[in-house]
Order: sequence, then C-alpha cells, then structure tokens
Amino acid sequence: MSYNLLKGKKGIIFGALDEKSIAWKVAMRAKEEGAEFVLTNAPLAMRMGEINKLAEACNAQVIPADATSVEDLENLFTKAQEILGGKIDFVLHSIGMSPNIRKGKSYGDLNYDWFLKTLDISALSFHKVMHVAEKQNAMNEWGSIVALSYIAAQRVFPDYTDMSQAKAVLESIARNYGYRLGKLNKVRVNTVSQSPTKTTAGTGVGGFDAFYDYADKMSPLGNASAESCADYCISLFSDLTRMVTMQNLMHDGGFSTMGISEDVVEMINKQS
Ligand SMILES: NC(=O)c1ccc[n+]([C@@H]2O[C@H](COP(=O)([O-])OP(=O)(O)OC[C@H]3O[C@@H](n4cnc5c(N)ncnc54)[C@H](O)[C@@H]3O)[C@@H](O)[C@H]2O)c1
Repeated sequence: MSYNLLKGKKGIIFGALDEKSIAWKVAMRAKEEGAEFVLTNAPLAMRMGEINKLAEACNAQVIPADATSVEDLENLFTKAQEILGGKIDFVLHSIGMSPNIRKGKSYGDLNYDWFLKTLDISALSFHKVMHVAEKQNAMNEWGSIVALSYIAAQRVFPDYTDMSQAKAVLESIARNYGYRLGKLNKVRVNTVSQSPTKTTAGTGVGGFDAFYDYADKMSPLGNASAESCADYCISLFSDLTRMVTMQNLMHDGGFSTMGISEDVVEMINKQS
C-alpha cells in the first residue's frame, strides 16, 4: 500500500544486485511511495547483477560507482543531482563484502590485506559517501542517510569474522557523521541492524542457515524480512522520523533483547 511518504523526494540507492537484495526492495518501495532516485553499484557487480531490470521497473537511471573510490562517488553525486534536477533527500548505503568470508578464512587466519578491503568496502565507503555529499553540499535540509548493519557489531558471531569489525566501524561513522551533518544542515544519519536475510551477501557467510533458523526461533516476531526492512528504511527517509539521528536501530523481530526463547529450548531438548 502506498502512503505517498516520499512524494517529491530525490534519492541515491546503493547496493541492488538482484531481486533478493535489500536495496532492491527499498528501491521498489521508494518508487511506490513517490520518490525519484538513481541506482548505483560497483561496475563489476552491475555486469553480474540484474540492476537494469530494476532500473526499468523504477524508471531510474543507473550510475556505476565503486563505493571505495572518492572519484567515482564525486561523479555519482554530480550526475545524480543533474538527473534528478536538485539536491538529494535520501541515501541508502546497502553495501557489504569481505574477501576473507568469500575465501572461507577463519577469524584466526585472516588475510590482513583483505581485512583492510573489508573495512574499506563495508565501512569506510559510508564515510566517503557522506564526505562527498558534504563537499558538494548535495543534501537537502532534513535529508536522511541510512546504512545497513548487523548485530555482530555488538555480539560475537564467529563466522562473521572481519565483517563484525566493519559493522562496528560503520555504526560509529553513523554517529560521528550524524553529528556533523546534523549541525551542518539538519541531515540525519542512522544504521538499521537487520535480521539475517537470504541474499547473496547474507548466504555467503558460513553457517548462514543455522544462524538464520536460530535467530528466527529466538525472535518473538521471527526474522524481519527484506521487505519489512524496506518498509522501515522508507519510514526513516520520510518526514515522520525527522528527529531520529545517530542511532543504530534494531530491526530484528526482537532478537537483540532476547536471552533464550521457548522455541530454542525445545529445539535443544529435541536434539539431546
Ligand atoms: N543479508 C543479511 O543477512 C544481512 C543482515 C544484516 C545486514 N545486512 C547488510 O545489508 C546490506 C546489503 O546486503 P544484502 O544482504 O542485500 O546483500 P547483496 O549481496 O544483495 O548486497 C550487497 C551489495 O554490496 C555491493 N558492493 C560490494 N562491493 C561494492 C563496492 N566496492 N562498491 C559498491 N557496491 C559494492 C554489491 O554489489 C551488492 O549489491 C549489507 O551492508 C549487508 O551487510 C545484510
């Protein structure tokens, strides 16, 4: 159902790879709510993914940008403002990648060059996005910037390896840049900490199916779907949440507040 929550708003959406991507769902909902936006992804991912299909469905243009390259981001923000005919109201950072996870490296055996790559792609890129937005004075007053995070920033999930540090840095950048952009022109910055979700990035983490099921059984509402995550992001881009900033917002069906649940006890009892 559409509420016209983003009518007249202009945005940039990073990270739609295929139909399972959280960014894909956000783009579809943003369109439904009346927003105009450009889509972007790393040049390589664009060749592998299906972003043009989404662009057609949303009547959006695609601008390639490697989010670790300030030059690419400068080009992206310049072109996005030209295409959309004005400053930007919302940005979704939906980017994550760890070469160590891809290569199945355990936490005690990380490749440090790859660790730095993980941090650059999954966390520093968020700083770079806001740095470019600030330098170009590209954000409208009361704009909203959201990045997606995961609870491994606070708790230990062994198979999430160096992405845990990346998410901790990402959330810290949201607080620190949130202060800066809030003072500068009332732009808010938040991270949404999402339940395990069956996407390319999600299912690439070792043991994903087990911790997906575990989180689902622990959460009184069950795991939050990609679609519900999109709904939440839309609310954060809308004018209904103008005073929410510098927060890491749990979107996890209640998981983060649980100790143990009856469903998990039952599962363990069945096994033993
Ligand atoms: N899937 C989950 O279980 C889950 C849970 C919590 C948070 N998240 C976060 O949600 C976000 C989106 O992931 P997703 O689950 O939709 O998976 P996804 O694989 O669909 O999206 C990840 C995106 O990051 C992009 N990307 C990688 N390197 C890039 C670069 N250098 N420049 C620009 N883009 C680049 C990929 O091309 C891809 O589109 C990530 O930040 C992820 O960590 C996912």
